[in-house]
Amino acid sequence: MKSRWYKDAVFYQIYPRSFCDSNGDGIGDIRGIISKLDYLKDLGINAVWLSPVYASPNDDNGYDISDYRNIMPEFGTMEDWKEMIDEMHKRGIRLVMDLVVNHTSDEHAWFQESRKSKDNPYRDYYIWRKGRGKDGKKPPNNWTSRFQGSAWEYDEATGEWYLHLFSKKQPDLNWDNPKVRQEVIDICNFWFELGVDGFRCDVITYISKAEGLPNGKFNPFLCGDEHFILGPHIHEYLNQVNRESWSKYDTMIVGEAIGCTVDNAESLVSEDRNELDSAITFELMQVDFKWDFWPVKFNLKKFKAVQSAFQSLPDTCWNTLYYENHDQPRSVSRYGNGNGYHRKELAKMLAVSLHMLKGTPYVYQGQEIGMTNIALEEKEYVDIMATRVFEMVRKIFPPLMPIARWAMAKRARDHARTPMQWNGKQGAGFTTGKPWMKINPNHSDVNVESDLKNPNSVLNFYKQLIAFRLHNDVIIHGTYKEYFHNNKNVYCYERAYRGKRYIVICNFKEKNVPLNVDTIGAKGAKLVLANYPKAAETMGDAVFLRPYEAVVYEIGGQTEA
Ligand code: GLC
Ligand code: CA
Repeated sequence: MKSRWYKDAVFYQIYPRSFCDSNGDGIGDIRGIISKLDYLKDLGINAVWLSPVYASPNDDNGYDISDYRNIMPEFGTMEDWKEMIDEMHKRGIRLVMDLVVNHTSDEHAWFQESRKSKDNPYRDYYIWRKGRGKDGKKPPNNWTSRFQGSAWEYDEATGEWYLHLFSKKQPDLNWDNPKVRQEVIDICNFWFELGVDGFRCDVITYISKAEGLPNGKFNPFLCGDEHFILGPHIHEYLNQVNRESWSKYDTMIVGEAIGCTVDNAESLVSEDRNELDSAITFELMQVDFKWDFWPVKFNLKKFKAVQSAFQSLPDTCWNTLYYENHDQPRSVSRYGNGNGYHRKELAKMLAVSLHMLKGTPYVYQGQEIGMTNIALEEKEYVDIMATRVFEMVRKIFPPLMPIARWAMAKRARDHARTPMQWNGKQGAGFTTGKPWMKINPNHSDVNVESDLKNPNSVLNFYKQLIAFRLHNDVIIHGTYKEYFHNNKNVYCYERAYRGKRYIVICNFKEKNVPLNVDTIGAKGAKLVLANYPKAAETMGDAVFLRPYEAVVYEIGGQTEA
């Protein structure tokens, strides 16, 4: 059944709330998405990952689902959704939906039932435990929520606690209950019957919790990880859903896989495992953020080491390539001087460094025009991650507030979620009303409309790059080899297939960098991609890279059998 179409795909991720608002209420919606499908087609992408559009009270912007078979009214109706998927398919764009089943919303009917009584038929859909201490008023164990504080919430009705690894409005489902697994299978099949082409599975490596829910090793921020990340039944459960749903359609299943490393990736994504098709891994994201939120200095050597390790996985594994998504800051602000004079070159260089690798690349909305982080006042942050950090620090130790502000200015998820910058006018072409969150003032300069007009724009470069990569056997199937690993400025690698080689050279520094390339054995290679005008047309013994310059040279291939 599986054609593995995703190996020749470039994805575009839509975060619907911030993409395009069709009715002026300040919130992006499905009709807004439909109005931009020609734009996406023109960009050249052939698949979309759509962040959740299901019914939700929006404690975590749709990642808290109250009804898996309905659309959030703010986003539109099921009819709108059907029109959207039809219009995508007409344009050759596949649709991968978000599947958030580690937890539901506390407003989901299952949880409403579950909390009513200890013998309710839905009680075991969630993870309920008695508290510790004489009066049971202490949480059952020391696990922490990813959004700060205990991962347990006391519920008056039955005098027990329920587990929530995210906010208290996101109770964790009990995957050890076979009925829960059946529900997930039914939900997947429901959407497959409506034509979806796959799922991005939210925090899927958290679904199996260790027997007895033991205390975690002490850690003030993230406690309990070792007892639920890739827990005891993870493979069994993924395999079951795969067998009974995912494998029955021509799908792509990509899992958000915290804890997936080079060493264990095969067990999750190798084709013969019948679990996930690919994993969104986090090692790259951890190069410059400790514990997921604490900024540490970017180190290009570490960054290259992570990329090279994943590129070297066996051929039965398939990588997910990304720098940005709705949880990560903007890459031009993260990996370079995003507000500087070379923003455009930087955005293009990053694109080259990622899209020439082996795997499926994802473009996050706005990345294709080089959108940047935003400067926010503390009260302007709207996302639960930042607002909870501020709340906790203020409660526990207020003198640390400046540091919390500093960390969030680099790390908050708000940076990725500012509305898409379609034009330079008020509302950025995103809305005619009052936007649900602040629009980056730099939309006067950084926007789609001006990029469409400028042949040298970031957007037009993305189009060129995507067209170059799709159906390109060397990029899809080629081997990978890194050069000059110890160089602190440049990321250089080769992709090779049937005698044809691409040499990719990216300067990660905002300064001129010379590089001797005589050892690569590719002298005379022809320039095929460049983010600056007037790069040398053929490769000599050295290349002289300008700030954030990226070049790709090609050699060989004529002798193909
Ligand atoms: C994933 C999502 C994130 C969400 C969390 C809880 O990490 O990408 O946005 O907050 O899961 O569902
Ligand atoms: Ca709207």
